Amino acid sequence: MADAPSLSLSFPHPDVALLAFDTPGKGANVLSRATLAELAGQLDVLERHSGLAGVVVCSRKPGVFIAGADLREFAAAGNPTREEVVALAAGGRKLFARLSRLPCVTVAAIDGACLGGGAELAMWCDRRLMTTNPKCQFGLPEVKLGMFPGWGGTVRLPRLVGLGNAVELICGGESIDGKSALAMGLASDVVPSERLEEAALALVRAEQQSQAYLQDRQRWQQPLAVSETELAFLAATAAAYIQGQTKGHYPAPLAALDLMVSSAMLDAEEAGERESAGFAELFGTPVNRALINVFFLQDRNKKDPGVAGEVRPRSVQRVGIIGAGIMGSGIAAAVIKRETPAVVFDVSPAALANGVAKALEEAAYDRSLRGPDPQRLVKLVPRLQAAAREADVAAADLVIEAVVENPQVKQELFARLEPLLGEDAVLASNTSAISISRLAAGLKRPDRFCGLHFFNPVRRMPLVEVIRGVHTSDQTVATAVAFAKALGKSPIVVRDGPGFLVNRLLFPYMNEALELVLEGAPLDTVDRAATEFGMPMGPITLFDVVGLDTALYAGRVMHEAFPDRVVQSPLLAALVERGRLGQKSGAGFFSYARRKDRGEPDPQVAELIETLRRDRREIPPQELQDRLFLPMLLEATRVLAEELVRDARDVDLGLIYGIGFPPFRGGLLFWADTLGPAGILQRLAPYQHLGERFQPTPLLTETARSGGRFYP
Ligand code: NAI
Repeated sequence: MADAPSLSLSFPHPDVALLAFDTPGKGANVLSRATLAELAGQLDVLERHSGLAGVVVCSRKPGVFIAGADLREFAAAGNPTREEVVALAAGGRKLFARLSRLPCVTVAAIDGACLGGGAELAMWCDRRLMTTNPKCQFGLPEVKLGMFPGWGGTVRLPRLVGLGNAVELICGGESIDGKSALAMGLASDVVPSERLEEAALALVRAEQQSQAYLQDRQRWQQPLAVSETELAFLAATAAAYIQGQTKGHYPAPLAALDLMVSSAMLDAEEAGERESAGFAELFGTPVNRALINVFFLQDRNKKDPGVAGEVRPRSVQRVGIIGAGIMGSGIAAAVIKRETPAVVFDVSPAALANGVAKALEEAAYDRSLRGPDPQRLVKLVPRLQAAAREADVAAADLVIEAVVENPQVKQELFARLEPLLGEDAVLASNTSAISISRLAAGLKRPDRFCGLHFFNPVRRMPLVEVIRGVHTSDQTVATAVAFAKALGKSPIVVRDGPGFLVNRLLFPYMNEALELVLEGAPLDTVDRAATEFGMPMGPITLFDVVGLDTALYAGRVMHEAFPDRVVQSPLLAALVERGRLGQKSGAGFFSYARRKDRGEPDPQVAELIETLRRDRREIPPQELQDRLFLPMLLEATRVLAEELVRDARDVDLGLIYGIGFPPFRGGLLFWADTLGPAGILQRLAPYQHLGERFQPTPLLTETARSGGRFYP
């Protein structure tokens, strides 16, 4: 298998060559070293072939043209020298450039994902054709991995579509479809998939006649046609925008911008050399390594069925949802969006009507219209049924409970519902804190019950925690995992326990923020320490978003479970007592009287803090970050020791997706491994007087002793 070729050359006409990619044994074509070597061999053949009218480059994989360079090879490269990286980049660029010098027109016929190195290869062709297939996407996502295109992408793209468009595509890293590519001049045409080959042949004939591609080849060798003024303007506006988006944590987009601007006046050859040199500056940096790790976390998650061994998930053709509030309506929207019918019930007819309307509106939402798309709405309406009686949801393959967070209400509901369910139906609870094994206590079939913990808002949050109770079966877990994936979510399987995974790790951090406040740190200083670490918002603001009453309640649950290390701040209770529940009530730690989404300092809170304050220290920034993130890290080592998750990487993905832990740090445990267990012990040392919550855990001590790491 390993020796089977990835590339084949055929001749649909005597003077037209078809160069087809088909990496054996893989779902997607990737550009590994072996594939590039094969490409070099095929180019040798084509260069020697006389009388060719055209070469068409295509893929035999459905839905994929070329997904990019082989990142596993990148990751396995170890620590190559700068010269080696420059040579790697320049080698790929020079190889692809041979396509642009063949003695005939070259056409990339793209009918699927055309990304990264694959997009660069396509750009070295004279022409590109794309299809109307929704999977047909062109993109250069390298900046998301802490790099920029290194095989000539920063040279070719500005020459093909103009510098402004190139900056947007390369620095933003988002993909575009055929329609946008056509509008930008990147694609020559967009056709239905089944007409692609025919269109490519027609294009070859047209170019054979006109020879237009030869003039373009001349032009693409030259510097770009932009004035100094245009360049300066673009550089300044794009840099400001990128700075705002990346907050200085992601160097690649700015580096790509600098490169493209400073190379604009050079010819393609010189610009290419600069690109290779610049690429070597980014390759192997900590941010690059961290982001590649995140890519692998996502990739692993996509392939993880959630259970060991061969277990067939049950097919879910129809979903029942009970409770049409915030979560129930969000879940319903996600379900019908993926073309699965859903039946929703709520005890309150008003809540039901409201929830169904909200779910439809959300599922039909169209970004360009900034509202529901009427045509989509018409298609969705028959998929969502409002049930008149509770029993009407029972005919579903999966029933998700999303009623009030009250164990008694939930258990009574299950007792009524269970006898009505089909033999293999799965029952799931969206509870955020109640033990799944406890909820399962009265069930006759606890094996087909699990937690399915979506995050709020469902449409934006990719994470779903699948909670395995003591009796939950493998098939139930596999079904829940497959279902969450069908909704486009990233499920992680967590054993039942207080706070499951994400909230359990979030609490030490949130609580410590309040301790710091009572020791003298201003609220916004605590928040800033977290955002400077890379969190999307600070913990104090997060309290206001989550709701202080919810946080207080969940904090009690955590305190009961882990009294030795979970502190309960008097500040939180005092604010709740005063009716300050966060954004939803217009006031929490901050005031939302003037702007609903942006808190402002409130003198009443300052006064309250004065009365509860234990100290008035100026806390150094390093201590602020240590105090916030080390307790979270220690808790993660306990989670690993208890085998709450099956793999350390689930902790990292869970936190990135669940609370926005900064991807440029690679994940919590990936970050821990970069500090090293000995380094962590050192950082903990000054805080030993704070008690159990800063004590090294047995796993940390043991890992330090053995010189190991947390990652497998
Ligand atoms: P919500 O208050 O918005 O909605 C609950 C709905 O359930 C209400 O419409 C209510 O009328 C209905 N209901 C109550 N008892 C019922 C019964 N016996 N039968 C049918 N319907 C009943 O609450 P939300 O926020 O949607 O929460 C639902 C569940 O999801 C809770 O368990 C909560 O802990 C959990 N959750 C909430 C998150 C959030 O951020 N809001 C996040 C993740 C989970």
